[in-house]
Amino acid sequence: MQKINLNSYLSKKVKYVNSALKNFLPKDNSIISQSMRYSVAAGGKRLRPICVFLAAELFDGKSKDVLPAACAVEYLHTYSLVHDDLPVMDNDDLRRGVPANHKKFGEAVAILCGDALLTEAFNLITKANADDKNINKAVKVLADYSGYKGMIAGQAEDILETDSWNEKNKKILEKKLKFMQIKKTAALIVASLKVGALLSGADEKSLKSLEVYGTNMGIAFQITDDILDIHADKRLLGKNGSDVDNDKLTALSLFGKEEAEKIAYKYINKAKKALSIFENKAEIFLHFTDYIISRNY
Ligand code: IPE
Ligand code: IPE
Ligand code: MG
Ligand code: MG
Ligand code: MG
Repeated sequence: MQKINLNSYLSKKVKYVNSALKNFLPKDNSIISQSMRYSVAAGGKRLRPICVFLAAELFDGKSKDVLPAACAVEYLHTYSLVHDDLPVMDNDDLRRGVPANHKKFGEAVAILCGDALLTEAFNLITKANADDKNINKAVKVLADYSGYKGMIAGQAEDILETDSWNEKNKKILEKKLKFMQIKKTAALIVASLKVGALLSGADEKSLKSLEVYGTNMGIAFQITDDILDIHADKRLLGKNGSDVDNDKLTALSLFGKEEAEKIAYKYINKAKKALSIFENKAEIFLHFTDYIISRNY
C-alpha cells in the first residue's frame, strides 16, 4: 500500500480549498466584501475543510463534490473568529498573522462581515454536488451545531462566565470547561465531519462514530489551543494570546501545562478508537488525529 504522508496530504488539500475560497469570495469593492476577503484569505490551517474531505473519503466521496461544503465550514469558522476577536468578546488585535478584522475595518464592519460570512456559508453548502435529500441533512447539521445549541452556547459560556474562579470546587470547573470545549470548538468539527459524510451517503452507525471522534478530537484541539495561547511562538501562531489578560477558564489555567497535555493525549486516544470501525480506510485520519495535539501553531 502507498505510504501516507500527512504533510503532503494537508498541503494539497489546503491549496485546493484556498483556490476554491478565492473563487467563491465576492469580487466587488464594497467594504463588506473587502473585509470578507481579508479575513478568509488571511490563511489559517483549514482544518475544518480538511475534516469535510477526510470524512467524505471514508465513504468514497470526492473532494470535488464536497468542495463548496468545505468552503462553507471555513466561512462559518472565519466568522466565529472575526466575532471572537471583537473588544466585547476576547479583545484580540492579531489574527492569522494580520490585524484582526475590527482593527482593519472597525467594529461595525467586523460584525457585519461575520454576519455575511455566516449567511453565505449556507448558500455555499447548497452548492455541493449531492442528492438534495443529503444536502438538506447537511444544512440542518451545520445549523444545529453552529447555532444556539452548539457553538454559540459554548461562546456564550466562555464570554459570560466571568466569575469562574470564585468556584472552589474543581469538579464543577472541570464540568464547565468540558461543556465549553465541546460546544465552542468540537461542535463545528463534528459538523464538518458529518457534513462531509452525509454528502457522501454515510450510514447512521458511521455518523455516530464520527460524532464520538469529533467530540473527543475537538476537546483535544481546544486544549492544545489553550496551551499554545501562552506557550507558542506568537509569530508562528499568528495571534497574540489573550487568555491570561481575560482571566479565562482554560485547560491550561485549570490544570497546568503538563496535566493539560496528558488530558489532551487521552482524548486523542479516545478519538482514534472511534475510528476503528473504518479499519484501514481511516489510516490518514489517524495521522491527522495525532497532528491535532503535536502541532505548534
Ligand atoms: C482557532 O481555530 C479557534 C478555535 C476554535 C480554537 P484554528 O486554530 O483552527 O484557527 P485557524 O483557522 O487555523 O486560523
Ligand atoms: C474560540 O476559542 C472558539 C470560537 C471562535 C468559536 P478561542 O477564543 O480560544 O480561540 P482563539 O484562541 O481566539 O483562536
Ligand atoms: Mg474566545
Ligand atoms: Mg479568542
Ligand atoms: Mg484560544
